[in-house]
Amino acid sequence: MNKTIIIVLLSVFMLNACNSNNKIELLSPNGNIAFNLELNRNGQMFYSLKMNGKQISSASRLGLRLKNDSLFTDGLRIIDVERNKENEEWNPVWGPNKTILEKYNELVISLKNHDEKELKLSVRLFDDGLGFRYKIPKQIGIDSILLVKELTQFNLAENGTAWSIPTNFDSYEMLYCTTKISEVTDANTPVTFKTDQGIYLSIHEANLTDYAGMTLKNTGGSNFEVNLVPWPDGIKVKTKDSLLSPWRSITISKNAAGLVESNLIQNLNEPCVLDATDWIEPMKYIGIWWGMHLGVETWTMGPKHGATTENMKRYIDFAAVNHINAVLAEGWNTGWENWGKPKAFDQTTAYADFNMPEIVRYAKLKGVELIGHHETGGDYLYYEERMEKAFKQLHQQGIRVVKTGYAGPIPNGQHHHGQKMVQHYRKVVEMAAKYHLMVDAHEPIKATGISRTYPNMMTREGARGMEWNGWSAGNPPEHHVILPFTRCLGGPFDYTPGTFDILYKNRGKYSKWNSNDKGNSRVNTTLAKQLALWVCLYSPLQMASDMISNYEDQPAFQFFKDLPADFEESKVLTAEIGDYFVVARRKGDNWYIGAITDENAREISLDLSFLKAKSKYKAIIYADAEDTRLKDNPTAIKITQQAVDRHTRLSVKMKQSGGQAIEIEEIKE
Ligand code: NOJ
Ligand code: CA
Repeated sequence: MNKTIIIVLLSVFMLNACNSNNKIELLSPNGNIAFNLELNRNGQMFYSLKMNGKQISSASRLGLRLKNDSLFTDGLRIIDVERNKENEEWNPVWGPNKTILEKYNELVISLKNHDEKELKLSVRLFDDGLGFRYKIPKQIGIDSILLVKELTQFNLAENGTAWSIPTNFDSYEMLYCTTKISEVTDANTPVTFKTDQGIYLSIHEANLTDYAGMTLKNTGGSNFEVNLVPWPDGIKVKTKDSLLSPWRSITISKNAAGLVESNLIQNLNEPCVLDATDWIEPMKYIGIWWGMHLGVETWTMGPKHGATTENMKRYIDFAAVNHINAVLAEGWNTGWENWGKPKAFDQTTAYADFNMPEIVRYAKLKGVELIGHHETGGDYLYYEERMEKAFKQLHQQGIRVVKTGYAGPIPNGQHHHGQKMVQHYRKVVEMAAKYHLMVDAHEPIKATGISRTYPNMMTREGARGMEWNGWSAGNPPEHHVILPFTRCLGGPFDYTPGTFDILYKNRGKYSKWNSNDKGNSRVNTTLAKQLALWVCLYSPLQMASDMISNYEDQPAFQFFKDLPADFEESKVLTAEIGDYFVVARRKGDNWYIGAITDENAREISLDLSFLKAKSKYKAIIYADAEDTRLKDNPTAIKITQQAVDRHTRLSVKMKQSGGQAIEIEEIKE
């Protein structure tokens, strides 16, 4: 994973502010994308972008404003430009693709202001997009940095369609709005645009480290500026004597599929820093979880307690029989009765009816892994005090995965997505690595590709997941066909698909525990779409989230049993944002296809020409049936088998909010 930067051309030249040479151009390796940087008469810095000669963004400001000093806003001059190139493949520890090409052209521009203070801007242009970042190097005269504003703008050259969630400093769990770009008043990232000329763009950030999370604010028309999540005192970023921003990124594609297939975000992160990664392994899991969201079990100890020794053993047995790697238990530890209070949770003490040593013994006997659960209620300070002890305990018990949670306000006026919490989430990942723990973070900081550097950062929530279907009007049919092109561009998502009892017919008597619950909750998909989501929403920890009783005697559950936890290659076969998404993922010689649609039924003709030329295959197809109806018969499913090869065209028929899951197995002679 060692990266060699090949410096092909190093041109150093001295310029001053009066010099007319204040423009720099950078082309992507294939020459299709052009980045232009320009300093105006006042030494203000702007960039613009073109693809195939067409303007994508017009003059957009760059710069940083520090408290009590507008150091890096005006009066800048270029003093040095370095040009580099990279063209290397690297292999992630896990992921939808086993080989990733990192190919870009780079500029490192050194600037000085009137006061001789230095700022560096790095720009990397790939064939699928742009990344740029600021650096204030350590220098005499700067010993404490208080960033009050990042001036970065994204001034799009034209209007179009946007898929966005509004800016929120504490949550990403909103439904996506489909609007005109100019109607987006503010947005969390990743945010996705399709311009009127049909160019697809995703604006996000990569390698969010020791900095505030980025949100966008509309400044008029299709123009946006960065709005960083503040500290309680209004400062955005506080560092000692140097500062390195995350990469600001724009993924660019001619089609929706290209956004999903892009590796820009990962490529803008550093190579793996862990010495050994053999303890990191993608897994499929089930858990004591959905019963609580449905209100038929409780996290707290009592007559309906979910995480009991007995229940856990049932789950472990089910996992063992069905070749599922791991079992999660929520509500296993004391403190759930103190929900909402500070210092509520003790992540090291089990409830009396959850016999941890016995469960550890039993799971080991059955060859099933356990997933620890650490809810913090948002009280990160208390968690930081206890975290190492809790991680050590998990490690001693032979547990390799921990799911964390931050459902609640962050103490002392901090925000979930501010610099303080960015630091916290990173501390967790680093401490987890020390104790060989893989992390699944809920209510996380957004995914910005740091899994490349810390491959134990497996998956996270950070969007509206399955839980919302348990106790609210639920996620609408189009949610699933927006997620792959928005939230999922940041990295793996622990959506937790797999509800089989879609209309909650087996729920029986339940207790409402959430004020969003208006008594109309259900899952707004067909069963076949639930299967397809396991493929469409990639996660190296993939959950079958229903209660196991709903999987008993269900032939459709075979798809999850057969599904690998990790893949070697992924291809988007056809896609349109908010309408449909069809992806194929390969493991060994077999392929797994997920096809999903929005509220419209549709038929897609699928070309299997990606299969090997001389091979014959058996396809097992899990499809919406003739009588499948989203409204009142969503669980009807038709399972068929047929011989296929690379010349076959499969007709994928999907009902409203339906889908199809296909396993394509090579027939060995
Ligand atoms: C919110 C998480 O997203 C969910 O998965 C979990 O069950 C609850 N918090 C309780 O920790
Ligand atoms: Ca959540």
